[in-house]
Amino acid sequence: MLYPYLTSLHGILYDSDCLEVMDQLKSETVDCIFADPPFNLGKDYKNKYNDKISQEEYYEWCSKWIKECCRILKPGGAFFLYALPDIAVRFAGFLHDRLTFRHWISLSMKGTFPRGKKLYPAHYALLYYTRGEPKTFNRVRVPIPTCRHCGKEIKDYGGHRNKLNPEGLNLTDFWEDTSPNRHKKYKVRSGVNELKLMIPERAILISTDPGDIVFDPFGGGGTTYQAAEEHQRYWIGSELYDCHHIYTRLKQRYPFSVTRDPKFNYESLLKDEDYSDKVLRRLKRKSM
Ligand SMILES: C[S@@+](CC[C@H](N)C(=O)[O-])C[C@H]1O[C@@H](n2cnc3c(N)ncnc32)[C@H](O)[C@@H]1O
Repeated sequence: MLYPYLTSLHGILYDSDCLEVMDQLKSETVDCIFADPPFNLGKDYKNKYNDKISQEEYYEWCSKWIKECCRILKPGGAFFLYALPDIAVRFAGFLHDRLTFRHWISLSMKGTFPRGKKLYPAHYALLYYTRGEPKTFNRVRVPIPTCRHCGKEIKDYGGHRNKLNPEGLNLTDFWEDTSPNRHKKYKVRSGVNELKLMIPERAILISTDPGDIVFDPFGGGGTTYQAAEEHQRYWIGSELYDCHHIYTRLKQRYPFSVTRDPKFNYESLLKDEDYSDKVLRRLKRKSM
């Protein structure tokens, strides 16, 4: 039996392996999954995680957690998977027979350099799949882009500017405003990449409604959990190596939300329905 590390009004976080956490969950229980896995590039996550194993071992592990994610996704639920393009291509192969492809969203990447006989890498991939037809698809609007020097709008919209929706443009599958990464002074884990909040936030807004359940298997600094908490979505999280940063992030922003009394009816999602209220309250993190 796994004991949570913390609970909040909307969420529950385990300092455990994501495979163990998913193993507790019944099939077809979550509305949206957002995953930003380690890329096996030898990155130092400052948390003892070994990010350099053999390619074979890495993809074997990835196929396991991706399959598990597909299992716990509700019909119509959405799976967003963030990766470098060459890794995303492999991931798409694992997803192909299980889910329906919606989009390969390109996210602008700056500050890179070309290696060997290659083009300059300028984007990350955010794969967006659903289990069959999406049960929720909310249109997200973004501000009309302006020049950062003169403040004027960049495009003239072929003379149809007055026909644009005053709430902004429809979000496309090319996100240019996601780079650069969060500045180090805003990160909860220094020296480690954390996504900009808008990345998981957009995924959540597109594919869920308040009260829906979001799962992110790779907590990191807790960006997805913040986005879910902010928009009143329930969330389940796992971070195997160090959950302290997530606690700090949530506690700073939502001091009353990090609580021993979640609103979350978590038990109904579990294979073992004897997971009583008492267990939920037996948190590993003592000072709430
Ligand atoms: C790329 S980071 C996620 C960053 C996160 N999206 C953010 O914005 O802060 C990947 C995280 O997965 C964690 N991790 C690696 N293997 C794991 C596993 N088996 N179960 C849960 N977490 C794991 C690593 O410790 C690392 O913090």
